[in-house]
Amino acid sequence: MNKTVKGLAEFITKSPTAFHAVNELKQRLLKEGFEELTENSQWKLKKGGKYFVTRNGSSIISFKLPKADYKGFYMIASHSDSPSFKIKENPEIEAQGAYVTLNVEKYGGMLCAPWFDRPLSVAGRVMIKKGGKNSLAADCKLVNIDRDLVMIPSLAIHMNREANDGYKYNPQKDLLPIFSDETGKDGFIKLVAEAAGTKPENIISHDLFLYNRVEPTVWGAGEEYVSAGRLDDLECCYGSFEGFIKAENKKHVTMHVVFDNEEVGSTTRQGAASTFLKDTLMRINESFGKTHEEYLMSLAESLMVSADNAHAVHPNYSEKADPVNRPVMNKGIVIKYNANQKYTTDSISAAACKMVCEEAGVPYQTFTNRSDVAGGSTLGNISGTQVAVSTVDIGMAQLAMHSPYETAGVKDVEYLVKFAGTFYASDIALNMV
Ligand code: CO
Repeated sequence: MNKTVKGLAEFITKSPTAFHAVNELKQRLLKEGFEELTENSQWKLKKGGKYFVTRNGSSIISFKLPKADYKGFYMIASHSDSPSFKIKENPEIEAQGAYVTLNVEKYGGMLCAPWFDRPLSVAGRVMIKKGGKNSLAADCKLVNIDRDLVMIPSLAIHMNREANDGYKYNPQKDLLPIFSDETGKDGFIKLVAEAAGTKPENIISHDLFLYNRVEPTVWGAGEEYVSAGRLDDLECCYGSFEGFIKAENKKHVTMHVVFDNEEVGSTTRQGAASTFLKDTLMRINESFGKTHEEYLMSLAESLMVSADNAHAVHPNYSEKADPVNRPVMNKGIVIKYNANQKYTTDSISAAACKMVCEEAGVPYQTFTNRSDVAGGSTLGNISGTQVAVSTVDIGMAQLAMHSPYETAGVKDVEYLVKFAGTFYASDIALNMV
């Protein structure tokens, strides 16, 4: 693996959930000399300073301020969450007197079949009671059981002869993982408590998810592909972050924005539809004693790149792709277009993006859905309802989107780092009036 792909693989392995991804970024930012801000304390920002703030421990905004007064905000936004199974309250179900299965529900729209017959584990966060019986204090702690723990076994072909003719999965029946034999009863929360370094009775509540244990790998005759869980959208999160860390900008505030809950519509306290970004921008503005009008003037000079992975043309299903806009892996930034503005790209933002690609020496390609197929959406247009700035939707081409093991191009990771670094260092003159 080259250094960049290795970095991505490590980031993904350490980020089984959105909470862990944000924590990884946070640790890295602290090492890079960024100062942590909290939403419940006053911000005293300095020109030339580097800061970050989190919300819910699952969304994070980091930013660098120029030494002089700034014109606008240059942002790349991606998402920290991926489709998975959330562990429900009262997680254990006794089955056939011989098993304990886990009661799970779907988080986001995943491909179900690839979750079967592979080692899975459990990670997330727990709330731990602090200070004895009558206390009203609790603290949150990240947990990762970090070993092969559960499995969703397929039904044998002999018991379902039509298994290969297509199957509709019922999440309450087909997708419950086996946790243990009958002796493991009441053991789940004990394992979680052990991973959290506390006693089971101290755990008040939890947000726990299944994740795929299969490690990232590089493959193909020329080692041209990288497969891993959660490439959508940790590849964009990682690539834009590497570019962000290195870049300097004298005129604009540069911002690395990672939202949770893109996979479930973004309408949470920390999602792209929330006020998190807007609140952060307004606090930056106020910290410099600038007026509301000056905030609006800055927005009119701002640009956002909404970075979320894109569909590469599939060799076995080429009829599913647009006749000409057919991105492939390892051929650079994919600019996504949609007439109904599920993707925000228009000629203005596309011009900015293409010029940045050319400046960076990074190839670009285009994606549109077939005109007779409704496509997905992402966070760009949703964020735009709170912070209306010119936005381009991009992604890196990948296969098997929303499988627990996805595939992307090795070269594209470096292309994204270069693209992001060039974007964050730029001052683009566009007539947006
Ligand atoms: Co995505």
